Amino acid sequence: MEEIKIGMKYPNINTVTQNEMKGTRKRKTIKERLNFGIMYQHPRIYDFAIWLNDPKQLIVKTLAKNIEGNSVLDLGCGTGTLYTHLPDTVEYTGLDLNEDFIAFVNKKNRGTAHVRDILKDLSDFQADTVVLSDVLHHVTPQHQQLIDNALLCARKKVIISACYEKEEGPFKRISEFIGRQIIDNDGLNDQRAGAGWLKLDELLSFLKDNNGENFQKVLSHIHCEIKV
Ligand SMILES: C[S@@+](CC[C@H](N)C(=O)[O-])C[C@H]1O[C@@H](n2cnc3c(N)ncnc32)[C@H](O)[C@@H]1O
Repeated sequence: MEEIKIGMKYPNINTVTQNEMKGTRKRKTIKERLNFGIMYQHPRIYDFAIWLNDPKQLIVKTLAKNIEGNSVLDLGCGTGTLYTHLPDTVEYTGLDLNEDFIAFVNKKNRGTAHVRDILKDLSDFQADTVVLSDVLHHVTPQHQQLIDNALLCARKKVIISACYEKEEGPFKRISEFIGRQIIDNDGLNDQRAGAGWLKLDELLSFLKDNNGENFQKVLSHIHCEIKV
């Protein structure tokens, strides 16, 4: 198996690797760890940070409520939290480039997960509902590519939960640096270092241009769906 090096180009792995199945992988060196923000140091830290931000888990519960059909494909699945809110009858597949997260999802039996770049060809995956939860801003400026990929995988609909850039303020630069570099740096996307994300009006028009409907505000996130 080709080794995945974070912060470099990623191979598109098409099968469940031995590491994904066993939940084992090479321990990261300190230098490699420095590529990641605090949230991405360990799956448990990620889950804790999400809980701190949304203790009642309103975002993930809203997504789960809007699932249609019997299968879900979660692109940029993180630790697979969504799985824990789905009925047993729904088949869950998560894709993410973070090897530690994928191993965690499989070890905790949160459905099935694979190490995959969600910006590349995903034609071997199909599901009734495809989920994009808190991931569009991570892949900017390729967020349109991610929507296109999601639509190609979806049989019924794509559901989206997306944050937006807060308005200007005196501490914007410092809070962006802390947010993007120190806390929410996924270690994958160089653009997290500086590129801004869409403001609320820009996000809404981007989603509407993609035929988004049923808009809802859930905490700091905009939810919508795109029917196929
Ligand atoms: C903020 S987390 C969201 C995780 C999960 N969807 C949630 O709502 O908790 C963003 C995730 O996108 C993943 N990611 C970013 N770029 C990716 C890419 N090109 N391919 C696969 N996963 C990617 C990161 O590894 C990270 O787990």
